[in-house]
Amino acid sequence: MFRKNYRAMGAYYTTNHFFQGMLYTAVLGVGGYLIAAGKMHASELAAFALYVNVFVAPIDILLEFIDSFLKGYTGFRRFEEVMNEVPTIQEKENAHDLELKDGEIEFSNVSFAYDEDSPVLEDVSFTIPAGKRYSLAGPSGSGKTTICSLIPRFYDVSGGSVKIDGQDVRDLTLDSLRQTVGVVTQDVYLFDGTIADNIRYGKWDATDEEVLAAAEKANLSAFLESLPEGLETRVGEKGTRLSGGQKQRISIARLFLKDPRILILDEATSALDNESEYYIQKALERLSENRTCLTIAHRLSTIENSDEILVIDGQGIAERGTHQQLIAQDGLYASYVSRNFENRNA
Ligand SMILES: Nc1ncnc2c1ncn2[C@@H]1O[C@H](COP(=O)(O)OP(=O)(O)O)[C@@H](O)[C@H]1O
Ligand SMILES: [Mg+2]
Repeated sequence: MFRKNYRAMGAYYTTNHFFQGMLYTAVLGVGGYLIAAGKMHASELAAFALYVNVFVAPIDILLEFIDSFLKGYTGFRRFEEVMNEVPTIQEKENAHDLELKDGEIEFSNVSFAYDEDSPVLEDVSFTIPAGKRYSLAGPSGSGKTTICSLIPRFYDVSGGSVKIDGQDVRDLTLDSLRQTVGVVTQDVYLFDGTIADNIRYGKWDATDEEVLAAAEKANLSAFLESLPEGLETRVGEKGTRLSGGQKQRISIARLFLKDPRILILDEATSALDNESEYYIQKALERLSENRTCLTIAHRLSTIENSDEILVIDGQGIAERGTHQQLIAQDGLYASYVSRNFENRNA
């Protein structure tokens, strides 16, 4: 497609320039002949050469205008397409706000597939009691992230149900649901604004003191003090002026402000160097206190202390239990631990 586009542009510009050149040549040729024949004065020829320019310039401008008009028009069409896109997840007409009690999560017989031929989850059932810390373990591509996305209803289940405090997430208003569920993942979304704006994204009406307190809990204080403008520093488009660890801590500060009852940590620390990981780990521990928490982590130390570990394979839960129980069972988890964690647990 681009090839064709550039080909057309090339053809168009060469033809255009060719004819402009031809105009000058013609004027000079004919003018030269007329002067030689004594029918024209040399100064008239000079004037004609200038007329060529006067004639060509508006044509150039017109063509440039058509070019930028078409570009603008396609851009506008694309903008319209995006704006008219109907989200697949729709609130029911009679959706009600979540009546939050303690934040218990219940999966009953959940099946899910991104496309119909390849199911990711089949008949998955488990309950995370309010205030408990559960972890998901299993090979990459086994469906851990998928399980996490079903709780804030980023996707709808194809069978069974996901409930929070006994209420099916499909019956709830999306606002109340997403206010209750906080997610930390590897990819942090920051917008171009100040650090304070980005933290406030968790709670728009937060006071400056609240923002500062959240930043402190997220281990951002030392970093903020090193900046001349502190919280008012601009982060650049998508946070380009910050390191991965700094972005991550901003996203954690957001959640301290938002204060969700349920917390999902999806490999939040796996893309970081050891030092940032340590600080973020501490911040996350603080954040997960008194919340129902579901963690996916690449570090054994992070999931070892979970109340329960769910081991996921291609279809659903293959094993479950505490770290000790699963090691004693000497099954999938035990082999997974010895293969994946032995070098990283130092
Ligand atoms: N948005 C998506 N569209 C289609 N398939 C997906 C999508 N996200 C994940 N998958 C597929 O679903 C399966 C489970 O993925 P995921 O839940 O991300 O695994 P994990 O987090 O355990 O690595 C994989 O086979 C993956 O290719
Ligand atoms: Mg994942």
